Formats: sequence, C-alpha cells, structure tokens
Amino acid sequence: MNFDLEQNKRLSEIEDIIKKYLPEEKGYYKTVIEALNYSLTAGGKRLRPMLMQETYRMFGADEDEILHSFMVAIEMIHTYSLVHDDLPAMDNDEYRRGKKTTHKVYGEAMAILAGDGLLNGAYELASAAFDLVDESSADILSKYKKIIAASKVLSSKAGIHGMIGGQVIDIESEGRLLTKDRINMMYRLKTSALMEASMMIGAVLAGANEEEINIIENIARDIGLAFQIRDDILDVTASYELLGKPINSDSKNDKTTYLAIMDIEKAKEEVEIITDRAMKAYQTLAYNNEYLEMLIVKLINREK
Ligand code: IPE
Ligand code: IPE
Ligand code: MG
Ligand code: MG
Ligand code: MG
Repeated sequence: MNFDLEQNKRLSEIEDIIKKYLPEEKGYYKTVIEALNYSLTAGGKRLRPMLMQETYRMFGADEDEILHSFMVAIEMIHTYSLVHDDLPAMDNDEYRRGKKTTHKVYGEAMAILAGDGLLNGAYELASAAFDLVDESSADILSKYKKIIAASKVLSSKAGIHGMIGGQVIDIESEGRLLTKDRINMMYRLKTSALMEASMMIGAVLAGANEEEINIIENIARDIGLAFQIRDDILDVTASYELLGKPINSDSKNDKTTYLAIMDIEKAKEEVEIITDRAMKAYQTLAYNNEYLEMLIVKLINREK
C-alpha cells in the first residue's frame, strides 16, 4: 500500500465532507460564523474523523451520512478545544494550523464564542442524525439506538470527566512537578478522550459489540497517550514551519510534560512501547484494516 497516497485520498475526502457542513456566513452575527469557519477550515491532520471512519470501515459497515455527521462533530469538538486551548487565559499561543489563532484574528470574545459555537454545533449534528434515518427501514430502532449510543460517547468523552477534565489538570500542572501517574491521567483525558470518542463512535455506528467497543476504547487510549507524548517531544524538537504552531509553548507556560520526568530518548521509547501495546490489543480483534494499522504505526515518528 502506498500510504501517503492513501492518506491524501482520505484527507481530501474528509475535507469535502467538512465543507458540506460549514454554516453559511450571513446574518447580523456572521462574525462568529466566520471565526468558526476560519478555525475549522484552517487545515489540520483530521486525525479524529479519519480514525472514526477507518474504525467504521474495519467493522465492515456501509458508509452513510450519519457517520459523516459524527465525523464532522468530532472535528468540531477537537477544533473548539484548540481554539480555547490557544486563548491568552490558557496556553496563549499565536499560531495554529499554520495560521494566526482565532483570537488573534477575531479577538478573544469572538474566539470564545466560536469555540462555543463549534461545541454546540457538534451536538446539533448528533441530534440531527436522527432525521437521517430512513423511517421505512426495518431496523429503525437499532439505527436510533446507535445514534443514541454514539451521542453518549461524544458528550461524555468531551466533558468534565473527559477532555475538559484533562485540560483542568494541564492548567493546574503549570509550575508543579506531577507524578507519572498523574501525567498519564492528564493525557488520557485531554488527548485520549477525543481519540477514544472517535474510534468508539466508528465502532458503535458500525454495529460492533460491547467487547469490541471496549477493546477499541483501550486501543484509542494508548494511541492518544502516545500521540500526546509525541506532541510534547515535537514541542521541543520540531519547527513552526513543520508543526504550524509555535514550538516551546510548553516551557513558556511551565507545563509539566513527559519531558519533565524523562529525557527525549526515553520518551520516544515510551511512545513505541505504548503504540506496541495498542497494536497487540488491535490484533485480538476479529477484524482488520491495513490502512488503520499503518496509520497508528506512522504516528510514532510523525513530524507534525
Ligand atoms: C493537537 O492535535 C492537540 C493535541 C491533542 C496534541 P492535533 O495534532 O491532532 O492537531 P491538528 O488537528 O492536526 O491541528
Ligand atoms: C492538547 O494539549 C490539548 C487539547 C485538548 C486541546 P496541548 O496544549 O499540548 O496542544 P497543542 O500543543 O497546543 O496543540
Ligand atoms: Mg494546552
Ligand atoms: Mg496548547
Ligand atoms: Mg502541545
């Protein structure tokens, strides 16, 4: 498989899906819609919708608009988390996805509101997914149940016991040395939670059973953990040109990352060990997806 070719194909497909769901920039309040669209169309790796789609494909379901709604919803929540993460009250960063951050272009108030709009927009899409179910279909109840289950995953993983909780630990970690356990908990929440949501929703919508969904949750937890450690490494070793966001943001904010408790070489080893663990769990599934496997392994050495 030519991985880069396959990745680009998927990325452009996801970009097209996102474009279809962008709100129209009109009305007396169109500034907030412009700010929202600015952040959502600024690029990014689209990793979460990709993980959702590939997990769904792995379980062999036929693709539909319900899946697409949730793919856009998760990218909206992720993007809102970044817009707020970059605010002066949080990480105070000036660039994101190779462009000025939303608050730098539209001001703080509009960036807060655009973030709120993205978060709310995700649930608007999730609830509108019910309208996409064909009412004459024989398995209408099972389709409704899948949307309910997917919505529960989406809202809980984004919430106080999910991504938001992780951001709280992150903010309160500034200037303090945390134990490895607490750092792991912070990463599991601030980063893994949305990865878990992505892959679990793909599995739920495709009709995976409870045991399979549990395995998927564990795989995604490790992918997120490894992804965040790699993010911390790149914050020190990469460049703005590659990342599209400022480097040394963590030291600027006196954040406690893996690099506060180990050196870069050891942190790279951890990324490999954790990814290995994810791949072992993946092998226990009765399904496979060659592209997904390669994607997970490629994340170990990602440069952006
Ligand atoms: C950035 O996520 C935030 C972290 C969890 C480290 P990504 O690295 O996936 O950001 P985009 O979506 O590609 O911009
Ligand atoms: C990611 O942590 C967190 C979110 C949940 C938004 P970072 O603060 O390290 O993410 P970047 O490096 O700004 O993308
Ligand atoms: Mg942060
Ligand atoms: Mg940040
Ligand atoms: Mg970072």
